[in-house]
Amino acid sequence: MRIAIGLGCDRGTPQATLARAVDEALARSGFAEAEVVAAASITLKADEPGLCGLARSRGWPLRFYPAELLMEVAVPNPSETVRRYTGTPSVSEAAALLAAQAEDASALIVEKHRLKGLDGRNATVSIARANPHRGLFNAAERQAAQRVLAARRDMRHFQPGCLIDDATRERLQIALMQAPSVGLMQPWRVLRITDPVLRERLAAIVIRECEETARAMGEREAAFRALKVEGVREAAELWAVVLAPDDGTLFGRRTMPDEMAWCSVGAAVQNLWLAARAENLGLGWVSLFDPQALADALGLPPGAMPLGLLCIGPVAAFYPGPMLTLAGWRSPREASALFGENRWAFAAPEHTG
Ligand SMILES: Cc1cc2nc3c(=O)[nH]c(=O)nc-3n(C[C@H](O)[C@H](O)[C@H](O)COP(=O)(O)O)c2cc1C
Repeated sequence: MRIAIGLGCDRGTPQATLARAVDEALARSGFAEAEVVAAASITLKADEPGLCGLARSRGWPLRFYPAELLMEVAVPNPSETVRRYTGTPSVSEAAALLAAQAEDASALIVEKHRLKGLDGRNATVSIARANPHRGLFNAAERQAAQRVLAARRDMRHFQPGCLIDDATRERLQIALMQAPSVGLMQPWRVLRITDPVLRERLAAIVIRECEETARAMGEREAAFRALKVEGVREAAELWAVVLAPDDGTLFGRRTMPDEMAWCSVGAAVQNLWLAARAENLGLGWVSLFDPQALADALGLPPGAMPLGLLCIGPVAAFYPGPMLTLAGWRSPREASALFGENRWAFAAPEHTG
């Protein structure tokens, strides 16, 4: 059973008071903290340090609902005092029910658990059973998803001579088919390379481009040559991802038709990347090739464009971080260099190769 937590508190309520109130309410409910799908409060408290700190420390998604939305929720214990201060007769009960996506107030397991802290400030906690039909994820599932995201790597080292079974391959195909795409265009096609002669021809095309890239690197040529940048020959599976000839989809791409189709292919590969990692399989996206040479080798029609050779298969070990970083080639940017607010204020990119 999954649960959602509704929180109300006085201004300046310490995190410790809120934490105690929550732990007492959880103990009353009989449910484990690992079952929490979300915590919630009123928009008025969106900057409340105790609330935000508690949710952060417990890894709960915290959301805030406006008074107008909270007041629409039927609750067992509405309060005139609460209405006077917040504009809604219920904060914690209504917020718990909204976060639980509950049908009605019968989902409340703990209605209102109140605690006055040592400093006199009040915290109120409500706990609601999450609607089982809404597919809400609990803490363990969130952590598993976060682990997959953090552990996904672009792999170039594969265990040679391995095969993967049909059922695993089908799950990978399903992951691709579940990917988002502009206007549901699904502009990608996948060719599974099973012919060893063709695989060898593709490997030769990649090696040729690795050579060209190395020569274009200038002073970084030797460092580039020292990197392993593909596993085309060794990987258990080799899938060519191809942008299909344009089907004229207009939805979402009238102004940027090519770019949105390319983005959709990227989104599909990302789904596959994560699904492969969850199967404990490595995936490496190889884009080092002359697209025309690859198109010829794969017999692509006019308008189709190869965008990747995906090497998929068992690996001896996943790299503990991006291989390009471990090899000293390049480090990821800090969050502050990637996220801004409202207007562009980022530094100009430095040329890296
Ligand atoms: C569109 C695309 C093309 C890529 N092509 C190559 C490639 O040809 N060779 C390679 O070694 N890595 C390639 N990569 C992998 C990136 O180098 C890798 O994602 C990046 O270094 C970060 O490492 P990580 O994926 O392990 O986090 C490609 C990645 C993307 C998204």
